[in-house]
Amino acid sequence: MAVPLLDLKAHHEPLHKEIMAAIEQVFKSQAFILGPEVTKLEERVAAYCQTRAAIGVTSGTDALLVALMALNVGPGDEVITTPYSFFATAGAVVRLGAKPVLVDIDPRSFNIDPARIEKAVTSKTKALIPVHLYGQSADMAPIMDIASRRRLAVIEDAAQAIGTEYKDGRRVGSIGTVGCLSFFPSKNLGALGDGGMVVTNDVELAERIKVLRVHGSKPKYYHKLIGGNFRLDSLQAAVLNVKLNYLDGWTKRRQENAARYEQLLTESGAVKKGIVRLPEAVYRASGHQHYHIYNQFVLRVEKRDELIAHLKKKDIGAEIYYPVPFHVQECFRYLGYKEGDFPESERAAKETIAIPIYPELTPEQQTEVVDAVRTFYA
Ligand SMILES: Cc1ncc(COP(=O)(O)O)c(C=O)c1O
Repeated sequence: MAVPLLDLKAHHEPLHKEIMAAIEQVFKSQAFILGPEVTKLEERVAAYCQTRAAIGVTSGTDALLVALMALNVGPGDEVITTPYSFFATAGAVVRLGAKPVLVDIDPRSFNIDPARIEKAVTSKTKALIPVHLYGQSADMAPIMDIASRRRLAVIEDAAQAIGTEYKDGRRVGSIGTVGCLSFFPSKNLGALGDGGMVVTNDVELAERIKVLRVHGSKPKYYHKLIGGNFRLDSLQAAVLNVKLNYLDGWTKRRQENAARYEQLLTESGAVKKGIVRLPEAVYRASGHQHYHIYNQFVLRVEKRDELIAHLKKKDIGAEIYYPVPFHVQECFRYLGYKEGDFPESERAAKETIAIPIYPELTPEQQTEVVDAVRTFYA
C-alpha cells in the first residue's frame, strides 16, 4: 500500500460538492478581487486567531513581506530570526534590504532559543521573527519580554501553525505585533493554490497593511505609500471559507495520528534503542487543545538519508524540512556565517525526517510506515 506524504485527493474528495458550489457562487458574482468572501474569511480568521484584525494576502511569503514593510523594516535594520525554517522567513527580510541575524534553535522544539536572542540584539535590531515550526509555538513569553525591553517588533511566522496555542492558551499570531499565516495547499488550512493572511491586534498597523496590499493607494490611484499587489483571490477565500469549518476536526485527527505514531514507534523498539527520537510536544502538559497542530510530524533518526531511500522504495512519502540551514545557503554567504556557527540547526538538518501525518491517514497506513521503519533498522 502506497502511503504518500500528503493526500490532497483524499482530503478534498468529501468536500468536492461544497467547494464547487462556493466557486460557482464567486463565478456567478464575477467579483474576483477582494470582496465579500475575502472580508468574511478575514473576520473568521481574526476570530480564530484571537486577533482584532486580519488581512488576506497572496501567500505566506507576502504576509511576511508586507508585515515587514508596514513596520518600516529596510536598509540598515537587523532582524533576528532562526536559521532553521522555510526560506521565506529570511528571504522577506533580505528583499527589503535589511539584514537577517541568526540565532540557533532549541533542540527540543526546533524553534528559536530565546536564551540566545538577547546577545544578538544591537542598536540596529528592529524586529524579531520567531517561527512556530511544524505547528508548535515558539517560547513566546521570554521573546516578548526581550521585545518589550528592547523596543522591538515581533513578527510571528505562523505559516505552519494556524490556531496553535502557546502554553498560556493564547493563539499564535495574537501574541506578537503581527502574525503571518500561509494557505499553501500542504498547510492545515490550505487553499487550492497560494494564499496567506496577516493577523494583528494593532488596528492601525492592520490599516497600513491593507493600504500596502493595493500598491499603497487610498483612495484609489492616490499613493501615500509604495506597496504592491498582495491581494488574496476571492476564489481562494471562498474555498477557504468552506474548509475553515473543518479545520478543528482535521487538527484533532492529526493529533490522534501523532499519538498513534508515538505508540507504534515506541512498541517497535526503535525509540527505546534511541535510533528514532519522537518529536517533543513541549506544551502538551498545558492542557490546551491546540498545544501542537502537527502540520508536520518530524522524527530525529539515525542513518536518515538511507531510511528515506528505503521508504521511497516502499512507496512511502518522507521529506526533509529543511536540509540546509540559512547560514550555509549559497545566497546568504555574504552574511559571513560559516558551518559550525549554529550546531543545533545543523544537527536538525542532518537528523530529521517528516513522515505522513495528514488527517485522512489510516491506522493501517501508519502501521505500514512504522513497519517499514522497523524493518530498515532490523
Ligand atoms: C515557516 C514558513 N514560513 C513561510 C512560508 C511561506 O508561505 P507561502 O508558501 O504561502 O508563501 C512557509 C510555507 O511554505 C513556511 O512553512
